[in-house]
Amino acid sequence: MSALVIDNLHVVFGAFRALDALSLAVDSGEVRAVIGPNGAGKTTLLDAITGITRPRSGRILLGDTYDLTACSEAEIARAGVRRKFQKPSVFPALTVRENLAIGCGPECPARTRPARLASTLSETGLEARADTLAGALAHGEKQWLEIGMVLASEPRLILLDEPVAGLSDAETASTADLIGALRRPDRAILVIEHDMAFVEAVADRVTVLHEGRTLFEGSMTGARADARVIEVFLGR
Ligand SMILES: Nc1ncnc2c1ncn2[C@@H]1O[C@H](COP(=O)(O)OP(=O)(O)OP(=O)(O)O)[C@@H](O)[C@H]1O
Ligand SMILES: [Mg+2]
Repeated sequence: MSALVIDNLHVVFGAFRALDALSLAVDSGEVRAVIGPNGAGKTTLLDAITGITRPRSGRILLGDTYDLTACSEAEIARAGVRRKFQKPSVFPALTVRENLAIGCGPECPARTRPARLASTLSETGLEARADTLAGALAHGEKQWLEIGMVLASEPRLILLDEPVAGLSDAETASTADLIGALRRPDRAILVIEHDMAFVEAVADRVTVLHEGRTLFEGSMTGARADARVIEVFLGR
């Protein structure tokens, strides 16, 4: 079963085609990486999925049937799609726990909120920092908090834009473990990243985007061996 289907999607900015007849499908339970050079359209894809940018044509389905293409940002979030933005955007003057409570979203019943906060703190390894102001966290901890804010709503589709940008090797390895632990049969994770060792560690399959189109789809090993991928991306 698919968790996400992108069907012949076109996103244009004036005369520029940011996504050009893009099609891809992510299975339930899968961790998919979307990689490719700067400007390939990776963030634009997340903008289209989350309703920030309207495609000119094509369809975006959650599961095999639920059509998100014309939904509002709020409807898409309520359907279980959550995103970590490329730039960390935690609330610095609130504690870690308060940030996570915001991540739970308005749909989370007050009764289940404490248990959900506790499990999110444990999943992200931030238990000891629960009462720390988010602004005082190290950069890596901020990234994990932001992943936690995404997790707190128990999403069925998690979108992560560059979760290890600016992290040390040790923090990157911890983030790979964290994402591995988030796998569930009823959840899919789509992660954009430039760190290829990290991608290799977390992703079941990779989609290589180039100029808004799929250049390659398959294993990271396959991507490394693909002449076109080497030419436009990995060889640079
Ligand atoms: N709102 C917009 N208006 C005009 N052009 C845009 C807009 N958003 C993105 N673009 C252009 O679309 C192209 C794809 O941008 P996008 O941010 O999706 O790239 P990316 O693959 O995420 O790159 P990076 O790896 O640098 O984050 C770029 O050329 C960008 O300048
Ligand atoms: Mg981007």
